[in-house]
Amino acid sequence: MINNAQPPIYEEGLEELMQELKGKYHATNDYRWAILNSDITFITVGTPSKPDGSIDLTHVKQAAKSIGKALRDKEDYHVVVVKSTVLPGTTEEVVKPILEKHSGKKAFKDFGLAMNPEFLREGVALKDFLNPDRIVLGVQDEKTKKILEELYEPINAPKLIVDIKTAEMIKYASNAFLATKISFANEIGNICKKLGIDSWKVFEGVGLDHRISPHFFKTGIGFGGSCFPKDVKALIKKAEEIGENPLILKAVIEVNERQPLKMIELLKKHIPELKGRKIGVLGLAFKPNTDDVRETRAYIIIKKLLEEGASVIAYDPKAMENFKRFYPDVSGGIEYATSPEDVLKSTEIILIVTEWPDFEELDYSGKIVIDGRRIKAAERTARIYEGVCW
Ligand code: UDX
Repeated sequence: MINNAQPPIYEEGLEELMQELKGKYHATNDYRWAILNSDITFITVGTPSKPDGSIDLTHVKQAAKSIGKALRDKEDYHVVVVKSTVLPGTTEEVVKPILEKHSGKKAFKDFGLAMNPEFLREGVALKDFLNPDRIVLGVQDEKTKKILEELYEPINAPKLIVDIKTAEMIKYASNAFLATKISFANEIGNICKKLGIDSWKVFEGVGLDHRISPHFFKTGIGFGGSCFPKDVKALIKKAEEIGENPLILKAVIEVNERQPLKMIELLKKHIPELKGRKIGVLGLAFKPNTDDVRETRAYIIIKKLLEEGASVIAYDPKAMENFKRFYPDVSGGIEYATSPEDVLKSTEIILIVTEWPDFEELDYSGKIVIDGRRIKAAERTARIYEGVCW
């Protein structure tokens, strides 16, 4: 698919860019060919959570093994860069020994090894990748440092050169802080809701302080996605392993797990008995402009609705297929609509879970809307409107 310029995921601008570059890049599953024909290898595989929240390094280890074997025959200095999010110590204590064992070569002498975390957000991945706030390079040897500085030379961003462990930690600290900002805002938002205060206005005021910044203060049903939940959990596990008790990080997760259920609490204020009611759910992706449903709030909300005996009609512009595949346990209980208008036609009760721009185009007159993300059109037109934190 990639060689035919067909992106296997949805990401804005990606298909166009692949079309434009078709023939100038080459995707292969032949490690040896790839490494013999290149100077740098990035390890970009996933590092998902195990059931206990700790990090699963299976894919990183497999990649390191295959790269190591291929490095045996490489004569020129080849640099291996870990871009996957891995806990401090992983590149040097896990990846390096595997590469050395399978290549029979020494890192930092016969081949280069570095850690270069990625900070792009899904949905704006290309833009973020090409215009990052910073580039962090975790390096040890001069040769590798020079090669990576040269690679990133065309990208205009501050470059921070640190050691490998520090680079690994910068990624976790960044994600944990952003997740903390959201859970903190949601906690204040829950208090605001009870006091009749609009938390979005509050954080507009708070964010004007340049020490704080206005971003990542959108209150609502909390964060999902492939990074924040798993990275905060992995950091908690690591901290506990080394005898620390990370109280703030634990609270960040706890607040985030409660937040989607606030929607159901608010709904019950208006409809105490959900049994037998049909509920419309707008949005299944964990955020707009992606088809990714990992850790989506929609799953928690729909699961709860079904447990309460309600039926669900759902719509998402891009993520319905993925949702069906990822969550077969609830998918059987969902009617998938062909348009958001269909959802509005089928029921008077609407839950807004993802802030897709399409949902701003709708007329919610006559509806009871519980909004987890703040859709202005719903706020303006719904018969009954409840925002989660405003
Ligand atoms: C995140 C980090 O932003 C990125 O730097 C890192 O590389 C990967 O993880 P991503 O998960 O793609 O990126 O999306 P992001 O835009 O950060 O949103 C994550 C979740 O937080 C979404 O569910 C979003 O709805 C939620 N969110 C975000 C809020 O609830 N409020 C906010 O103010 C911002």
